[in-house]
Amino acid sequence: MDHAVSPIPAASRTEFYAALQRQLAAVLEGERDWVCNLAQTSALLMQLMPGLNWAGFYLLRSGELVLGPFQGKVACVRIRVGHGVCGTAAARRATVVVPDVHRFPGHIACDSASNSEIVVPLLRDGQLLGVLDLDSPQFARFDDDDARGLERCVGILLAASDLNQAI
Ligand code: SME
Repeated sequence: MDHAVSPIPAASRTEFYAALQRQLAAVLEGERDWVCNLAQTSALLMQLMPGLNWAGFYLLRSGELVLGPFQGKVACVRIRVGHGVCGTAAARRATVVVPDVHRFPGHIACDSASNSEIVVPLLRDGQLLGVLDLDSPQFARFDDDDARGLERCVGILLAASDLNQAI
């Protein structure tokens, strides 16, 4: 199995996410361990998506989000559901796109370089397992196309992994 990752040439957002999803599926192929797969996914996103300073996961444990595999600077370890951007996406069970984190009430600053953020919930059969969090130093780095593209990436990740409620 070849796990080499290829840079994605400048392309339309649709083409970019199609290529990203293909590479994600290839990287995860043949492995179901969730620690491994979340770590690989955060590395792949950091490697292939331009303009990120943090990419990683918070996992729901005993009703609280706890830091999981990630790429980037040391981050806050626990976030209550309903707090910050991550906790808001978890509470809503919906993707949250924040063009300017400094204007988001209750935003939790982990890396002072972050100016925009997107958080995508990990949902299996309607059950919240955690969230995917991406930060960028650019304002308005993420939009609805990123939301849909990343939701599909999360779908690929969950289908490929043994992550479940029992963690
Ligand atoms: N900004 C997030 C906290 C996590 S860090 O960005 C990695 C939030 O407000 O929930």
